[in-house]
Amino acid sequence: MSELKNKTIAEIVTNDISTASVFKKYKLDFCCGGGKTVENACKKANINVDDVINDLLNNKPKNDVPNLNFKDWSAEFLADYIVYVHHTYVRQNLGIISEFADKVANVHGQHEPKTIEIAKLFSQVSKEFTSHMAKEEGILFPAIKAKEADYNFQFDEKTLSLTEDEHEGVGSLVKKIQELSSDFTPPEWACNTFKALYFKLEEFTNDLYQHIHLENNILFPKVKNL
Ligand SMILES: [Fe+2]
Ligand SMILES: [Fe+2]
Repeated sequence: MSELKNKTIAEIVTNDISTASVFKKYKLDFCCGGGKTVENACKKANINVDDVINDLLNNKPKNDVPNLNFKDWSAEFLADYIVYVHHTYVRQNLGIISEFADKVANVHGQHEPKTIEIAKLFSQVSKEFTSHMAKEEGILFPAIKAKEADYNFQFDEKTLSLTEDEHEGVGSLVKKIQELSSDFTPPEWACNTFKALYFKLEEFTNDLYQHIHLENNILFPKVKNL
């Protein structure tokens, strides 16, 4: 524990770029002011260093896909799982990724115009996916649950294909970001914010693919068979 306190923020972020989110949460600068030790930076910002260290120790990159029997779950349980795990992840991360994307575009956009393009694309992802999730939570998932509870419930299957179309739309935006970023590979000269942006974009993309897979390939076929 004390070992981490005495490391510089830049050192920690360089060793594990996923920790950038923790420093971002506490508004500790890991880009230009990263030369301070965690302890000194916390003292200066009047932040409890133990809180930061705890978050650093509990920080895990969120790329692991759990090996669960999604297929055996009820539609209701799966819909709730998707909301609690994936919708929550998206809501917790849209803001921080947008901030990173805007910062990188502002600082590097002139000599790396694709960073401006990436920021624009991500802001579109953010807007479209926020309303997409609201529709699922407010209309589609309650209807799925009602259909599962009562066979006679009038469920309009067209909603499923409309939802799949929206998945395709957001999927193609994310694909463009992946192409522009050369599969999330930062240039050699990239600063920590740039690296953190690409790390988070990759994590977001992996989460999105798993999320859409659960809906398109498991939840929706389940509903069609109810
Ligand atoms: Fe969803
Ligand atoms: Fe969806």
